[in-house]
Amino acid sequence: MITIKSRKEFEKMAVAGQTVAVVLETVKRAAGPGVSLKELDAIAAEVIRSRGCTPSFLGYHGYPASICTSPNSVIVHGIPSDYRLIEGDVLSVDAGAIFEGFHGDAAITFSVGEVPPEVKLLIDTTERALTAGIAQVKSGARLGDIGYAVETEAHRHGFGVVREYVGHGIGRQMHEDPQVPNYGKPGMGTKIRKGMAICIEPMFNLGGHETAVEPDGWTVVTADGSLSAHFEHTIAVTDRGPKITTLLAAAEDDLAVTPASG
Ligand code: MF3
Ligand code: CO
Repeated sequence: MITIKSRKEFEKMAVAGQTVAVVLETVKRAAGPGVSLKELDAIAAEVIRSRGCTPSFLGYHGYPASICTSPNSVIVHGIPSDYRLIEGDVLSVDAGAIFEGFHGDAAITFSVGEVPPEVKLLIDTTERALTAGIAQVKSGARLGDIGYAVETEAHRHGFGVVREYVGHGIGRQMHEDPQVPNYGKPGMGTKIRKGMAICIEPMFNLGGHETAVEPDGWTVVTADGSLSAHFEHTIAVTDRGPKITTLLAAAEDDLAVTPASG
C-alpha cells in the first residue's frame, strides 16, 4: 500500500533525513586508513542518538548494526566488522534514522585516498544517476521515468546495474510500496503523487550486474568480484515539487570560520 504523507509528517521525515545526512558526512570524514568499520558504526550510532533519533537498521530483521558498511565488491548490506580501511578502498555507507515514527534513509560511496580513474568514474556515475533519477520526480511522472533515467547513466559507461535490490517507498516504515527499480521504460509504472516519499538508490558495478549473498545472510557482493557503488536519497513529493529530505543543509555543512589571529 502506498501511503500519502501530510506536511506535518514530511516535517518529521525532514528531521530524520537531516540526521542521516549528518551521519553520512561525519562517517565520511572519519573514514581513513586504519579506521575500522565497527568504529564508523559507533560514530554513526552516537550521531543518530545525539539528535534525538533512533537507528532504524539496528534490529531490522535482526540486523546487528546502525549502518551498513559495504567495502569494494560489497554492493549493499555489509555488516560493520573489525576490518580496517586501507588506502584505495571504495566504501559505501548506508544509514537510516527514525524521528517521531518517521524515517530517513540514504547512502553514499567514497574512496579512501586515491583510486584509478575508472573507479572514480564508477562512483561519480552512480551519484549522477541518482541525481538524474531525482530530476524525474514530480507529480504525474511514473516510476519507469526514474528507472530509465538511472540506468541510462550506467549504460553510457557499460556499468552493471543491480536488479535484485531496488529503491522503495518510505514513511512510517523504512520499506513501503512502491518498489523503485533502477531500470524501466519511460511512461510506464506507478504514477507519482503528492504526499508520496520514495528512496531512489542506484547500485552500479564495474563489472556484471549479477549479485550473490554471503553466508552471513546479509552481505550482498558482486558475483564477479568487481567493485560496486551505491548512492541513495529520500525524496518527498510536496506541493512545491520534490524535496530531498536527506540532503545536508548548508547550516550543517562545514561553515566553520576560524579568523586569522593578529
Ligand atoms: N537502507 C537500506 C535500503 O536502502 C536497507 C538497510 S537493511 C538493514 O533499503 F538491515 F540494514 F537495515
Ligand atoms: Co533504502
